[in-house]
Amino acid sequence: MKSRIIETERGKWEIIGLSDTLADESTAAGFDSMTNIARSARERAYAPYSKFYVGAAVRMGGTTFSGANVENASYGATMCAERSAMYKGVGEGHRQIDLIAVSTGAGPGTPIESRSPCGLCRQVIGEFALPGALVLLDAGRTRDHEFNGEVILFDDLLPWKFRLKE
Ligand code: THU
Repeated sequence: MKSRIIETERGKWEIIGLSDTLADESTAAGFDSMTNIARSARERAYAPYSKFYVGAAVRMGGTTFSGANVENASYGATMCAERSAMYKGVGEGHRQIDLIAVSTGAGPGTPIESRSPCGLCRQVIGEFALPGALVLLDAGRTRDHEFNGEVILFDDLLPWKFRLKE
């Protein structure tokens, strides 16, 4: 997949796939702050079982909501960070997502698969994603940049998503 790099004030972002045609310098303005919000949310994760702490930030109608994964002794009742964040926004009356950031604490070089939203979260993102919605995958800090990661068009993460026929 083709990619290019956008440098933000404190970050370096790899723009992957179709998002290459969408993300420009002005879109990128919020990448660092969204990822910062996701990192802060991660600090509040409740993950005593997996010890895999995740934070997410989702922008809905210009307002950003954050969330962290909340595990449960039953395991099955566990809620991911992404859906925690989205359900907050939806509960506040929002229905449109244009940007979402996910932070797992992973460092540079960690595979994308271990830093991207799970299938269930993708389906829920798909329910509210605006055309062109972007997903930021935090790849941690480096010596040169406080923020590093990939930018992917949501539709690249979940093509042909399920929808009830209108
Ligand atoms: N998790 C998330 O919060 N988001 C994802 O997209 C992947 C998985 C959480 C759920 C569980 O608490 C832990 O990570 C390990 O699967």
